Amino acid sequence: MTTTNFSPAPTIALIGAGTIGTAWAVVFASAGMMVRLYDAEAARLPAALDMARARLDDLAAYGLIDGDVDDIMTRITPAAELDAALDGADHVQENAPEDLALKRDLLARIAEIAPATCTIASSTSFIEPSRLFDHVEGRERCLVLHPGNPPFLIRVVEVVPAPFTSPDAIARCNALLERAAMAPIAVNKEVEGFVFNRLQGALLREAYCLVRDGVTTAGDIDRIVRDGMGIRLAVTGPFENADLNAQGGIEGHAKRMGPSYARLGAERGQNDPWTDEMVATVAAERRAALPLDQKDARAAWRDRAVMTILRARKELLN
Ligand SMILES: NC(=O)c1ccc[n+]([C@@H]2O[C@H](COP(=O)([O-])OP(=O)(O)OC[C@H]3O[C@@H](n4cnc5c(N)ncnc54)[C@H](O)[C@@H]3O)[C@@H](O)[C@H]2O)c1
Repeated sequence: MTTTNFSPAPTIALIGAGTIGTAWAVVFASAGMMVRLYDAEAARLPAALDMARARLDDLAAYGLIDGDVDDIMTRITPAAELDAALDGADHVQENAPEDLALKRDLLARIAEIAPATCTIASSTSFIEPSRLFDHVEGRERCLVLHPGNPPFLIRVVEVVPAPFTSPDAIARCNALLERAAMAPIAVNKEVEGFVFNRLQGALLREAYCLVRDGVTTAGDIDRIVRDGMGIRLAVTGPFENADLNAQGGIEGHAKRMGPSYARLGAERGQNDPWTDEMVATVAAERRAALPLDQKDARAAWRDRAVMTILRARKELLN
């Protein structure tokens, strides 16, 4: 594949028009791109178009998209056949069910038909790109772009290349995502579930154990996350949060809390204590992002950001 930038209005082929395919249509079409929407069950396409319009209406009502919804909808074209969807495509995003055999077969067919210059991505939630694309034609243009659900609200996308993915394909996908107002996050190693679902999984695993052990109820876990840690995590990540909350920043936090968290992990059979080396790596990143003498000012900013969220929630819940 040669290094080429996408055309002024790139054509995106979305293969699979369920929850994620339809949400991607909203993202790409509202960014001015031409979208082809294909599904193995053609009868699903009218409902997908209705869903896309409803989501665009909501986004417009909240001032979260520019442009007229009717105009944006003209850029989403249903395709009855796979060939028609892929004809002249600049990028393919596969959104079929999470089934390795199904995806491998579908991706091989896509790679045979799609233009050689076209990048090919899967939205898979868990499957490493090496296992999805090792057999396809032109696999150097293939990778995983894993969105949150729905991508028109959760604007981060995990970019997961296989060892055989070319730097050019990665660069093109990053540029495409940025153009679609998405934030690409580089995943540097292939691990099942990538980063997003590993973090979600850690929380859900512990939540299930606490319910199983009768410590609390599912409803109260939802309240603790929603009204407790989730409020802060909406404006800081877990590392920044720990950094801001502890005297001495993240190193002070790890020193005081590390042994307790290590015991909780060991109780669940996970023996990954936060070693001095691990803490030093994270602390170096934190100090590069925020010198310790600016910590109080940032914490005050964080609190005001939380107040903004609390005010919005008050309006929502009233
Ligand atoms: N739903 C989520 O929260 C979420 C988030 C991120 C990523 N994903 C991933 O996105 C992918 C799609 O998930 P979803 O939730 O949209 O599933 P879904 O069941 O809502 O949609 C899948 C669609 O694919 C169609 N399909 C089945 N076989 C096909 C084929 N051979 N060719 C074309 N279309 C085919 C189905 O008819 C269906 O409309 C999965 O890999 C999933 O893991 C899902």
